[in-house]
Amino acid sequence: QNAETPFYYTDKKAAEAIIKPREKFSHKGTFGHALLIAGSYGKMGAAVLSGKACLRSGVGLLTMHLPECGYEIIQISIPEAMAITDSDPKHNTALPELDSYSAIGIGPGIGQDSKTAAMLKSLLEIVKAPLAIDADALNLLSQDQTLYEKLPENTVLTPHPKEFQRLAGDSENEYKRLEIARDFAKKHKVIICLKGANTAVILPSGEVHFNSTGNPGMATGGTGDVLTGIVTALLAQKYEPADAAVLAVYQHGLAGDRAAERKGQSALIASDVVDCLGW
Ligand code: APR
Ligand code: MG
Repeated sequence: QNAETPFYYTDKKAAEAIIKPREKFSHKGTFGHALLIAGSYGKMGAAVLSGKACLRSGVGLLTMHLPECGYEIIQISIPEAMAITDSDPKHNTALPELDSYSAIGIGPGIGQDSKTAAMLKSLLEIVKAPLAIDADALNLLSQDQTLYEKLPENTVLTPHPKEFQRLAGDSENEYKRLEIARDFAKKHKVIICLKGANTAVILPSGEVHFNSTGNPGMATGGTGDVLTGIVTALLAQKYEPADAAVLAVYQHGLAGDRAAERKGQSALIASDVVDCLGW
């Protein structure tokens, strides 16, 4: 940290200081039960990637809420996950019971159906567990900005630059974007992971944590969905939301760096990032 500014840098030491060791006498209940609301017809891959990343990030149990068309896809590709399906064949439209979950992630591959928008709205009204919002759930949020005041405190938002622009408006340059993001995080008391090279994690206090890991090989479809799974897993394990966001962004980039070493940047795909997770 620079003494005069709220800017921090997440290096190996800072990230490792956050990690909680797994206790010898722990059991899967110790590590929480995550709910991921993900997928729509033609975008079930996003659900698969976020689900696998969640399981590779230490969560005790994972349940996925999916459109009906996603049932077999998930059961076959992620045997470790439980699946509950929506009555709608192609979209997530209705909330399941939420009391069993220690964290909820919503967004990867969910699309922008109006019934999914209604579902997101009711989620914001009743959710008590820590929440992560990504991808089309962010786009749906930006379509009804009256929902911003319903965002629970310390909700983790993971927008890429386009999604952030829809949420908070245009900015001429990256410096301006960071200032807009800090204002947004303070005003709405949320945590924003502003994704890109050197993803910035912005806290409600206005503190900014720049990440040190990651590489341009990660500029490929699905890597963002992997991050959502990691954040949700850490929230489910009761990491403080700020710690969960900072550590998730660091481990995601580190896994991307390991994947690039093995495969080269051009051949890297999001599944490789999942395979290289681990701490
Ligand atoms: N250097 C380091 N990391 C990078 C770089 C880079 N040059 N480019 C991208 N990344 C990382 C980002 O930090 C982020 O974590 O890759 C990830 C990309 O995430 P998204 O932009 O959300 O992409 P993804 O979700 O995989 O794309 C699939 O889903 O969210 C929608 O609009 C999105 O259509 C897109 C789709
Ligand atoms: Mg994305």
